[in-house]
Amino acid sequence: MVDVKVAKNKNGLKGSVVIPSDKSISHRSVMFSSLAKGKSVIHNFSHGADCISTMNLFKNLGVEITRTEDKTLEVVSSGRLSAKTPDLNCGNSGTTMRLCSGILAGQDFDTILFGDESLSKRPMKRVITPLEMMGAKIISNDGKAPLKIFGSPLTGIKYESPIASAQVKSCVLLAGLNAEGVTTVVEPYLSRNHTELLLDYMRADIVYSGNEVTVKKSELEPKVIDVAGDISSSAYFIVAALIVPNSDIVIKNVGLNPTRTGIIDVVKRMGGNIEILSQDKVSGEQVGDIRVKYSDLKGCSISGADIPRLIDELPVIALLATQAEGETVISDAQDLRKKESDRITTVANGLKSLGADVEEKEDGFIIHGKTDLTGGAELEVFHDHRLAMTYYVAGLICENEILIKEFEWVNISFPEFEKLFNNLFV
Ligand code: S3P
Repeated sequence: MVDVKVAKNKNGLKGSVVIPSDKSISHRSVMFSSLAKGKSVIHNFSHGADCISTMNLFKNLGVEITRTEDKTLEVVSSGRLSAKTPDLNCGNSGTTMRLCSGILAGQDFDTILFGDESLSKRPMKRVITPLEMMGAKIISNDGKAPLKIFGSPLTGIKYESPIASAQVKSCVLLAGLNAEGVTTVVEPYLSRNHTELLLDYMRADIVYSGNEVTVKKSELEPKVIDVAGDISSSAYFIVAALIVPNSDIVIKNVGLNPTRTGIIDVVKRMGGNIEILSQDKVSGEQVGDIRVKYSDLKGCSISGADIPRLIDELPVIALLATQAEGETVISDAQDLRKKESDRITTVANGLKSLGADVEEKEDGFIIHGKTDLTGGAELEVFHDHRLAMTYYVAGLICENEILIKEFEWVNISFPEFEKLFNNLFV
C-alpha cells in the first residue's frame, strides 16, 4: 500500500514529457498478433498491469511471447490457440475480459475468464448477449465474471449495439473473425476505432464507414506494430498545465486518433491554450506533439457524441471544470458508473472533499466554477487508477496538502506517472 502526499505546486510545470504507450492499442497489438500465424514484433508495448494481464493470458493460450527489449515484444504464434491453462486471469482489465470473450467464444476448447474484485462487479451481459446471438455458450455469475466459455461454432450477425462501446464492438468483431458469414456492428455513436485500424493493418477482411463496421472470417498477417502514446495518459499533463499557474509544457508522442481526441476539443471549447505542433502516422494511427499553457477557462457542456471520445478522461475533465468560470454540464455519461469504480459518485465525492462545487447527476455532473480548492483531505481510489491520477493533479492546486491512499493503482495503466510529473516541476 503506497500512500502519496501531494502539495501545491508554486512555480508551474515546464519542459517536455514523452507519453508512454496507449493501453487500448497495446492490448489489441498482443491479442491480434497472437491470432496471426508467424512472428510479430510490437514496439513501445505498455508496462501497465492491464496490458501485462493480456500478455500473460495469451501465454497461457499457447502463444510464445518474449520481451526482447524494455518495451519490445516478440510474439510467435501458430495462428491457433490452445487451452494450456483454461483458467485465465484478466486482473483489473475490462478490455482483456470483454475482447477475449469474443476471441474465445468460437474456439474448439473451453475456458474460464476471471478478474479482481473491481472487474468481478462490472457488467458482462453487454458482451454475452451478442455472443449468444452468434451461437456462443457462456455461463456467467448473473451477467458478471467469472465467465465460463464453452467453445462453439459461431455465425455472423448484424448487431445494433445499444451503447457506444469499443469493448462491445471489438468483442463482436473478434468473434466475427472466426464465424461463418458476415458480422456487422452498428453503434449509436462512433467509439474508439483501434480494432478496425489494427485489423485493417493486419489484412483482415474488414470494411468500416461512419458508425458501421463489417468483418468476415479472416486470417491475420503478422506485422511490426509501433504503439502510439496514450492520449488518456496525456490528459493528466494537459489538465495540470492548464490549471497550475505559470505552466507551459510540450507533450510528445500523443495518440491523436480522432475517436480519442474529445479532450482536445473540450479544452478548446473552454478557451484553453492548446496547440498541435506536429503530426505523423504509426501503424495506422495518428500521433503528434502538443503544447499546453496555463489558461483562463470557461465552463461548457459535454454530451452525446463527445462522450465516447473522452470517456476515460471525464474524471480529470471534471477537475478541470472546477477551474473554469461558470457552469460545466456533463451528460449522457451514465456508463461512467460501470467503470473500475462508479466514477460519477467517486469523482463527485472526491472533488467535493477538496472543496469543489460538484453536483452528481444520474448521467454525469454539474460543476460550478471557478473554485479555489482547499484540499487537506485523505482520498480513497477504490481500485481505480484514473481516480489516483486525477487526485494527484488536483493536489497540485490545493491550498493544503492532500493524501492519496493506495496510489499504487496508477500501475494499472501508467507506472511512469509520478516520475514523469516530477521531471516537469521547476
Ligand atoms: C476501451 C474502451 C472504453 C474505455 C476503456 C478501454 C478499449 O470502454 O473506457 O478504458 O480499449 O476498447 P468502453 O468501450 O466499454 O466504453
